Parts: sequence; structure tokens; C-alpha cells
Amino acid sequence: MTLTVPNSVYAERRARLAAQLGDGGIAIVPTAPERMRNRDSDYAYRHDSYFYYLTGFAEPNAWLVLTAEGHSTLLCNPKDAEREIWDGYRLGPEAAVDALGIDEAYTAAELDQRLPRLLENRSCVWYPFATHAGLAARVDGWLTPVRARARYGALCPARQADLCLLLDEMRLVKDAHELALMRHAAQISARAHIRAMQRCARMLRAGQEVREYHLDAELLHAFREHGSQAPAYGSIVAAGANACVLHYRADKAPVRQGDLVLIDAGCEYDGYASDITRTFPANGRFTGPQRALYDLVLASQEAALAATRAGARFTDPHDATVAVLAQGLLDLGLLNTNQHGSVQDVIEKRAYFPFYMHRTGHWLGMDVHDCGSYVEPSEVGTVSERKDPLSGETIQDRPSRILRPGMVLTIEPGLYVRPAPGVPEVFHGLGIRIEDDAVVHPGSCELITRGVPVQPDEIEALMRD
Ligand code: GLY
Ligand code: MN
Ligand code: MN
Repeated sequence: MTLTVPNSVYAERRARLAAQLGDGGIAIVPTAPERMRNRDSDYAYRHDSYFYYLTGFAEPNAWLVLTAEGHSTLLCNPKDAEREIWDGYRLGPEAAVDALGIDEAYTAAELDQRLPRLLENRSCVWYPFATHAGLAARVDGWLTPVRARARYGALCPARQADLCLLLDEMRLVKDAHELALMRHAAQISARAHIRAMQRCARMLRAGQEVREYHLDAELLHAFREHGSQAPAYGSIVAAGANACVLHYRADKAPVRQGDLVLIDAGCEYDGYASDITRTFPANGRFTGPQRALYDLVLASQEAALAATRAGARFTDPHDATVAVLAQGLLDLGLLNTNQHGSVQDVIEKRAYFPFYMHRTGHWLGMDVHDCGSYVEPSEVGTVSERKDPLSGETIQDRPSRILRPGMVLTIEPGLYVRPAPGVPEVFHGLGIRIEDDAVVHPGSCELITRGVPVQPDEIEALMRD
């Protein structure tokens, strides 16, 4: 499988989407806007994932219009010799038709003039809801002249519908091209983690001062060296107790002998994310309490992985994780057996929550927290109610998504121990997460991120070398 996605793949996605738009339907898909960072400097441009999924076109200021009959129109930046001197190459509408396999292309400046004509006599306008500020108002603006032409016999679409509902389902199951890109992104990220671990141990051995940003620099170096465009999300490089801050970012805290370091970082490669967390001893040797807690998180991840296969529910890996963590928290004395009783009590009362307060995974794809419903669509009408033991709130549960081959999810259990009365001091300030990316297969899952080891002995070995 090459990493170049042929035009036929995007054409096939558009055809599959068109077939779901209903008689007379039409879809409008904008890419992402360019965003100002400060003064006249933009943030690095990142296309919209839905738009890119349907076109493979990464330039800003572009729109796709697709009819239920499968006719595609692209509106994009025009060729402009002067702008291209400043901003770089533009494909332009003339070349776009052949280069992208689109039926027609025009300049984006023609949007307000062309859209009313395209929307006329259609039954339903589909566009992504709540993802592009002001889009609903723009659609209304394009429909106004259509309504004005009613006396000449024009029909105005009576319905508007959320295109995300269709595209989210399509994107949830990855095709072979997407999986090839995701495996590649995962391999680059794995190498980056190894690089950061090794640099950390090497600097400490040499008596040098290590800061979190030194390790972040290694990640960025490896990402770019292997052709990734950017990190898929803000990298977390957390030394010591910073690991207990779930959304900590790589900053400037010193990394000390005896610390654990938690790195949650993954690159994006040609629009696809990877998402890896490793927790390792800064100097390459786990202490006893660190190792005990690490082994527990690893055992909980192994239980989750064993529960990840086609036909299982999305919540099964989480439930498997929690069962192992609950037992381990009692065994290690982080939860008091006299107070909490059995494992079943710990689970039912969510007594593990102060140490494990996030879910065990999420969909992964073009977006790190990728789209796709976590409820099984065929069972969406089955609702049960329960009282949350901690908040007392009544929660409505719907059956969790049944995993299918080609879905990709992360498996990322963790434990975060903040100092608190009754919590053994040896564990205070330890934060551990182990995160891998899993492709669902019929009888199992494929871990695409194991280019960086998780076994503590293997981590120690690679940090020694
Ligand atoms: N790095 C984001 C996450 O693990 O979900
Ligand atoms: Mn994740
Ligand atoms: Mn992560």
C-alpha cells in the first residue's frame, strides 16, 4: 500500500456520500479558515478534516459542493502570480478539475453568485452544523435569492440537515489507505518517543540539566525528520508531579533523577493523527513504588487490549481497565479495604475516580479525538437510567458502540496520585499513563504504536543503550 492516496479514493468517498443525500439533496463542505495568531501572523494552516476526506485538497479558502446525483463543484483560490510570490503555489480552478478529479471548478470569489443557482430546486441542503462559525447564516443568505425566484417557479430547499451525521459514520471505519497513513504516523511517533527517552537518560548521566522542553525538542525533531507536518495535538511532556495534570503541556520544569516523565505526543502525517503516551523513569531506572504502579497500569492496559476486537462494545476495554485498576488500588493500599470493601464496591461506587478520572480511549483518525458516535446506531432507542454514585445525577445510558473492523481507537489507562490523607506517601505525585493506538480486527486488535516498548524492562534497556 503506497502512502499516496489516488484520486479514485476521494471520488469513491464522494459517490458514497452523494448516495446518502436523498432525492434532490445537495451538500456544501467548506475547508477551514486561515486564523490570525497575532498582528499579521497566521497560525500554521490546517485544512478541515471533512473537506480533505472528500477532496484530498489542502489549500485554504476552498469549498466543495456535491449533489445527490454525484456532481462535484470545487470553489478555490484563483491562480495569482503576485500572491503566489508571497504565499506559494496555488492549484487554481482550471487545473483543479483534472488534478483532483472534480467535475467543475471556479474561483471562491464566485461563491455568493454560484451557490444560489446550485441550491435552486434542491430538496435538502446538507452542511456541517456547529463546526464553521457563521456558515448557517451564509446558507440562509444563499437561500434568500432562491426564495425570491419562487414566483418564476424556482423551488427552495425545504430542509437543512447536518452533514456531520453522514461523514462521521463514513470516517469512523478507516479504509486501507487511511490505515496505511495511520500506521506510518504511529511509527514516526514511536521513534520520537524513543528519541526523547534516550536523550533524557543520556543528559542526566552526563550531569546536564534537563528541562521538559529538551524532550519536546526531541519529539519535534523526530516528527519533522520523518516527514510529519506537525504534532497532531499539543504535546504533553510532564516531569514528576506535573504528570497528574491531565492537560499539562510541555513547559520548562526541570526533569530530575528519580522523577517519572509522562510524554503524551503524536505526530500528524498527511492529515492523520497518532496518539502515544509513555511514562518512563527520567534516569532509566524505575523505583520500587514507581514500578508497582506502572505494572498495575500496564496490566490494566493488557486487560483492555484483550477486550478490543470486532463485536465487542466500545466500553468493554474501559470496563476491563477499571476492574484491574480497582483490584490493584486495593492491593497497593491506595484504597482502604476496610473503607471500600470489595472490588465490586470500588467499581460500583466509582471509588477509583480520584486516581483514574478519564475514559480508556477515544476514536482516532484525521482528528486526534476523531468523529463518530459512541452509541450503537441500531440501538439508539434503547435507554436505561442510573444514578451516578458520586454526583447523584441521573444518567441516561444508551448501548455503547459495537466495534467493527477498521475502526481505530486509543487504549490509554492511567493512574494519577495526588497527595491526600490515607494515600501512601511513596505514591504521592506519581502520574502514569500508557497509551497505544489500536486498529480493530475480527478476533483481536492491532497495535500500531508498539514501535516504542511498554514493558518496563524494555524501557530500562533502551534507556541504558
Ligand atoms: N493526547 C490526547 C489524548 O490522549 O486523548
Ligand atoms: Mn488519546
Ligand atoms: Mn494522548
